[in-house]
Amino acid sequence: MERSMNTVHVALEDRSYDIHIANGLLGRAGQLLACTLKATNTAVITNATIASLYLETLRTSLRSAGCNVFEVILPDGEQFKTLDSISLIYEHLLGFGLDRSSALIALGGGVVGDMTGFAAATFMRGIPFVQVPTTLLAQVDSSVGGKTGVNLTGGKNMVGAFYQPRCVLIDPMTLHTLPERELRAGFAEVIKYGIINDPDFFAWLESSLEAVMRLDADALVQVIMRCCTIKADIASKDEREQGVRAYLNYGHTLGHAIETLTGYASFLHGEAVAIGMCAAARLALRLGLCPEADVRRIEALVQAAGLPVAAPAFPAGDYLAAMLKDKKKTGSTINFVLPHRIGEVALHPVSQDRLRAFLTADLAMR
Ligand SMILES: NC(=O)c1ccc[n+]([C@@H]2O[C@H](COP(=O)([O-])OP(=O)(O)OC[C@H]3O[C@@H](n4cnc5c(N)ncnc54)[C@H](O)[C@@H]3O)[C@@H](O)[C@H]2O)c1
Ligand SMILES: [Zn+2]
Repeated sequence: MERSMNTVHVALEDRSYDIHIANGLLGRAGQLLACTLKATNTAVITNATIASLYLETLRTSLRSAGCNVFEVILPDGEQFKTLDSISLIYEHLLGFGLDRSSALIALGGGVVGDMTGFAAATFMRGIPFVQVPTTLLAQVDSSVGGKTGVNLTGGKNMVGAFYQPRCVLIDPMTLHTLPERELRAGFAEVIKYGIINDPDFFAWLESSLEAVMRLDADALVQVIMRCCTIKADIASKDEREQGVRAYLNYGHTLGHAIETLTGYASFLHGEAVAIGMCAAARLALRLGLCPEADVRRIEALVQAAGLPVAAPAFPAGDYLAAMLKDKKKTGSTINFVLPHRIGEVALHPVSQDRLRAFLTADLAMR
């Protein structure tokens, strides 16, 4: 049977690479990776949950393509996205006798991908790595663009490197085992791409939501292709986040504040971003930047995707303090990515006074 392959090219001069998207791709990853990496020794970095589901398939495929396969299986969870885990990875790689001609393969969600990328960026001053993302969030967001890193006790993603993979292999079939809540959370980032970049895609999502949520094979490929194309395009224009890449933070300013205020315990990242996107749309409406009809459509799609729209109640001052502590602050104003309409956003500095009034009036904070 002819199997279709969809490829998105990420143009970054000598760091350019391809993202391949196809159902069932995991089972034939070996050949593709053997060609791209030209490395005989590979180490798959994954976690215990994903290893039990997909490691066997990947291992078999790599071996039949002539690769030696070593494996590092980390415990599952964001709490393990630490320098300790990175040390553990280094120790294993040394123990396997890997050198600069070897390559790492990240098999998993954003946590595994960010750590594997950082280990690859730093082990022996940099060895090649590839991403094989298995969550929707990782397939549409974290595996593309080259940001890698770990958390410190003092904050998320505080240590890291920009380091591009040699390629990204996406098998949407892996989403069939993903918990539904994780799927919906990833979908928040999908909606984000429509709002910041592509009104037609947003409209397509409105009409195809049901197909995506029941993991229709073609719909999934379409979604992932479109999101990767948008992210690749933005990352090519602004690899190190000095300009347009900031648009990818739509919904994240308030989203991060919600994650901080709730101690990362109540909401998944995508859920906090969903609330943040709705809040930013309402803020744009209040500032006269965005038509009400577009704000309603944003809220309706977020809600239809089973994502939260209402911000948890904390004093407005707590929200402000949390937003000012976030990396994107500048002086007495806070920069927000705000929609002018669906498909077009821009950065707007908003004064603390204006924000406090908005939080109190629109989000009903004290
Ligand atoms: N580098 C970037 O540009 C970037 C962008 C966004 C987010 N991130 C990072 O990504 C991380 C979040 O990633 P995530 O949402 O993928 O979370 P995750 O990696 O923790 O995965 C979520 C859960 O799903 C499990 N899982 C993964 N794939 C599965 C599958 N196919 N079937 C069943 N279970 C599966 C995981 O074991 C985990 O328990 C955060 O650390 C965040 O900082 C990075
Ligand atoms: Zn995000």
